[in-house]
Amino acid sequence: MKDSGYSIAVFAGDGTGPEVVREGTKVLAALAEGGSAPWHLTEYPGGGQYYLATGREWEPDAKAAAEAADAILLGAVGWPGATLPNGDLAGRALVLGLREQLDLFANVRPCKLYPGVRHRISGTFREVWTPRNVDLVIVRENTEDLYTPARGRLSRGGETEVAIDTRVVTRKGSERIVRAAFELARARPHGAPQDGRKRLTCVDKSNVLEGCRFFRETFDRVGAEYPDVERDYAYVDAFTQWLVRDPERFDVVVATNMMGDIITDLAAVLQGGMGFASGANLGYDHGLFEPVHGSAPKHAGHNRANPFATFFAIVQMLRWLAERHADPRLARQADRLESALASVLANGTARTYDQGGSVTTSAAGDRVADAVRAVPT
Ligand code: IPM
Ligand code: MN
Repeated sequence: MKDSGYSIAVFAGDGTGPEVVREGTKVLAALAEGGSAPWHLTEYPGGGQYYLATGREWEPDAKAAAEAADAILLGAVGWPGATLPNGDLAGRALVLGLREQLDLFANVRPCKLYPGVRHRISGTFREVWTPRNVDLVIVRENTEDLYTPARGRLSRGGETEVAIDTRVVTRKGSERIVRAAFELARARPHGAPQDGRKRLTCVDKSNVLEGCRFFRETFDRVGAEYPDVERDYAYVDAFTQWLVRDPERFDVVVATNMMGDIITDLAAVLQGGMGFASGANLGYDHGLFEPVHGSAPKHAGHNRANPFATFFAIVQMLRWLAERHADPRLARQADRLESALASVLANGTARTYDQGGSVTTSAAGDRVADAVRAVPT
């Protein structure tokens, strides 16, 4: 437990990022009312729009602050036309760069459908997905695979002839992500919605790819240490249909980076859309928490983005800090926030445009802040 409080570096970033982060800080302030906040936030500029304005993705002090902070809260990065000279996304330093620099190897993305949240698929056999059958977590490897910066183009006579991305799967990288996923599956109190079993599904393409065969071997070797967790396997192509058809089968899912990127967006549909999808980028020493939806340029500046993904990212952040520092104050605050979120979602008073409502981003933040105040400390 840190008596001095926890330092949180905040990067609002681009597009809708600042709009949802503003609501996140509002809700953190509501949590802290009536006592002294066990955290202090410092905001730093950066991202694609900042790059267009200044020629820099962020400032050197921001990079150092991210490294020194107890936790990092990120809005979103990416803006049309904001590209680095080498063709990379301007603002990548804040997301891909920090994943590399701070070795944030585990991207933990919960996918839970709360009562009162609508999803955009209409049902036939049943209400398609109900809160009863969507409660899983996808654990995505976050530092290697196709994201390894071993890529390039081969040009001859000024003409590009070949573009290469290298898929790198290492023993160390696989072991630590698989172990993190087994630990999470072991710790989850209730297992899969279908049968209450603790289950870890390894999603890969090991019928074709060598890296995936290696990943699955590691999964089996490490998994032998977790006899209380059922080992389950799915090829990624088949997984996409099972996830949509029978989400209740899944408890925790582990995947390599690129496949994890794709299946987490698909999974977000089950929880009401990207407006609810949060992610924790975790290493042994650092944690970065973010809504997964990105900067959504076409919605930026309209005060209509759904801030719930940011609120859920804050729940993840408080829980992670609580566990890491054995601090029950933060665990209580995480519980308070989660129950406030559940109550606002259940009564449908903060439905933003993506939920078929017309509540603004800032009004949704006000509802949640009020609900936080109503939950006893
Ligand atoms: C994500 C995003 C990032 C990724 C982008 C913004 C680089 O899609 O966090 O899922 O590809 O990992
Ligand atoms: Mn993605």
